[in-house]
Amino acid sequence: MRIPFVAGNWKMHGSKAMIQDHLGQFTQQASALNNVKIAVCPPSLYISDVQSKLAGSLIAVGVQNVCEQAGYGAFTGEVSVDMLADFSIPYAIVGHSERRAIYGETDAQVADKVAALLASNITPILCVGETLDEREADQTEQVVAIQLNAVIKKVGAAAFANIVIAYEPVWAIGTGKTATPDQAQAVHAFIRNLLAQHDQKIAESVIIQYGGSVKPDNAATLFAQPDIDGGLIGGASLDPIDFLAICKAAA
Ligand code: G3P
Repeated sequence: MRIPFVAGNWKMHGSKAMIQDHLGQFTQQASALNNVKIAVCPPSLYISDVQSKLAGSLIAVGVQNVCEQAGYGAFTGEVSVDMLADFSIPYAIVGHSERRAIYGETDAQVADKVAALLASNITPILCVGETLDEREADQTEQVVAIQLNAVIKKVGAAAFANIVIAYEPVWAIGTGKTATPDQAQAVHAFIRNLLAQHDQKIAESVIIQYGGSVKPDNAATLFAQPDIDGGLIGGASLDPIDFLAICKAAA
């Protein structure tokens, strides 16, 4: 039995005022939901503010990226898994398509980030997904398999007991063009079957979120799909009413 997991990826948005104004009401109402895990991933500067606001609730805090180098050192601008552990942060998004496209993150770097997080007992939210060109060229499964296999090669399939996967078709991110439930389910089933070739039990238990223009009016039909276990939510997570509605749809 997989518990659906909904995480809000704030990306480069947020403010102290927003955290004070929005999270209070959201936290109280979201905490009353059963059978759904919830996390909020603000920009790193706001982690302490969000942790304070969520204190005492079951809502977790995550970060949006991490350095693949563990420990400390001359990596200007980076944040290490050791620092995340210092703040008791349980989740980190890695391999988001914006990191891959804008900052050139490679499959190997993403795999290293996953390995560093697992070594510090922090759960990676591993993003995979194809671009519109790749989908139109019927390369979706090939692309997702390459992204996943890079991580499996690095950490092994059994490690997915502690990894959350987020399938995010790049063409659906921030565009309002959500994948249809059938499109999303097909790739989620492909991902689960790929893992099943290594470890059936892990494949059955791994959480696979969908991300890409999830909104209150489409969340329920997406989350009703057998292999969709919640969502990774961008824009809609910045509005407490919309994000609460999406969390309710997953519960
Ligand atoms: O990581 C989630 C994000 O990429 C989805 O963004 O705005 O399409 O929900 P959005």
